[in-house]
Amino acid sequence: MTKNKVRILGIETSCDETAVAVIENGGTILSNLVASQIDVHRRFGGVVPEVASRKHIEVIARLVDDAVRDAGLQPSELDAIAVTNGPGLIGALLVGVSFAKAYAFGLNKPLVAVNHLVAHIYANLLGDSLPSFPAVCLVVSGGHTSLLHMNSRHEFDIMGETRDDAAGEAFDKVARFLGLGYPGGPAIQQTAQKGTAGIYKLPRVFLDRDDFEFSFSGLKTSTMNLWNKIKKEGREDTVYDLVAEFQEALVEVLVEKTINAARKKHVKTILVAGGVAANSLLREKLREKAAEFEIDVFIPSPKLCTDNGAMVGCAGYYHFVDGNLANWDLNAYPSFDFFVNKTCG
Ligand code: KG4
Ligand code: ZN
Repeated sequence: MTKNKVRILGIETSCDETAVAVIENGGTILSNLVASQIDVHRRFGGVVPEVASRKHIEVIARLVDDAVRDAGLQPSELDAIAVTNGPGLIGALLVGVSFAKAYAFGLNKPLVAVNHLVAHIYANLLGDSLPSFPAVCLVVSGGHTSLLHMNSRHEFDIMGETRDDAAGEAFDKVARFLGLGYPGGPAIQQTAQKGTAGIYKLPRVFLDRDDFEFSFSGLKTSTMNLWNKIKKEGREDTVYDLVAEFQEALVEVLVEKTINAARKKHVKTILVAGGVAANSLLREKLREKAAEFEIDVFIPSPKLCTDNGAMVGCAGYYHFVDGNLANWDLNAYPSFDFFVNKTCG
């Protein structure tokens, strides 16, 4: 029998979502389930690592079972088991890695290790049309903000990174300080919709520099200081305008730097990856600006921007077909950077 369908199980447990998906031939999502822990962590105002690990272990077996069933498959019909093994919360990662190893070993299937950031980037390969390379990629998640130049899908050259807070971290910290809730990104986006940017003025940090470095802690602190002043003056009802300006300032820097990077490298493709890529203002502004320079923009659907199993299954598929398999001594790494070796996959 000739087999022309490659089905990969993708497991993601690096932070506060237990996520499992089955991907066929790298681009077709047969199932994609997420057990979010947001409600559990909300009362603490952020992710509590040990609680995250415990929640992952409670749900992972059932979620894998459900994902395989939803895909209409038997476990034996899977071709490989892909799992995120870093970066992320170590206890949380170990749940996914341990489960994936046991599952793959039990089924006698290959194991594939996937870098979480690479998976976010590969989410752009889940759509109907594939991006062409070379490209510039903006990675904006809770822990990372980087601009990369990619000559091919597995070559990553860092053009610039954040010197302090990641974009998502700034969203989360500002939201928490203003009492808008967790996670901060969606809360800020929603609040900003009711306000007007420009009424308050916040800094566009590093926009005057012609490099590709970012810094968001100054913007965060300016926002917090302004909020303290607003409260002292009893003008809390203007929170919407403050938040709209914060979002505008942050997005403007991301958009300008990304476009500048694409122009400098003479590329006609921009990829965006990570949870902050779900932000509607960023999506809109980047597409608008890129159109001026006839640059194609790829951004996964919002559901595929935040942590999910589909992106792991997708990256896992490409690693699998490239023959890049993991050994049974695979470990998890909280802070390993795929940029270190410059290539991956
Ligand atoms: O990629 P991700 O799900 O997890 C990490 O790998 O870090 O990104 C999470 C980050 C959080 O900081 C969250 O606030 C942010 O993505 N985020 C958003 C939006 N949705 C999620 N930031 C801005 N706007 C959004 N709509
Ligand atoms: Zn992520």
